[in-house]
Amino acid sequence: MTKPDLAISRIMTVVAVALVDGDGRVLLQRRPEGKAMAGLWEFPGGKLEAGESPEAALVRELREELGIDVEAACLAPATFASEPLGDRHLLLLLYACRKWRGVPQALEASALKWVRPLEMHGLDMPPADRPLIGLIEALL
Ligand code: C5P
Repeated sequence: MTKPDLAISRIMTVVAVALVDGDGRVLLQRRPEGKAMAGLWEFPGGKLEAGESPEAALVRELREELGIDVEAACLAPATFASEPLGDRHLLLLLYACRKWRGVPQALEASALKWVRPLEMHGLDMPPADRPLIGLIEALL
């Protein structure tokens, strides 16, 4: 039987955000060429670094990827999804956020897009992000 500590080390935790603007639209970013799943539209975010809390990781990722400043207190846990990823398992924690400083820029993505939740159904999204659409629709 697999030892629990080994099983845990195979879980990759990723944090992401549904940034919601005043019109109820959500920001998605397009994964750039050269990265896994290039061209797919995802909720901005990324991997936790060793010892980081999910909120601290998301604040860091949003500064690196979008050039915006978000306070950890403004990040509301929304939902999560889990998805097999090769020989590992991806655990995607999604937060919602309605308040930030700065204008989001595509610093790492190939494009950004503000979409209504209904429009997300027609976009190619990573498998872990796709099941979250319905929950975001219900939230807004
Ligand atoms: O962007 P990065 O390659 O660091 O993301 C790490 C992993 O998390 C990738 O496998 C990526 O597909 C996944 N991810 C995801 N949904 C997101 C953000 C990242 O499935 N919204």
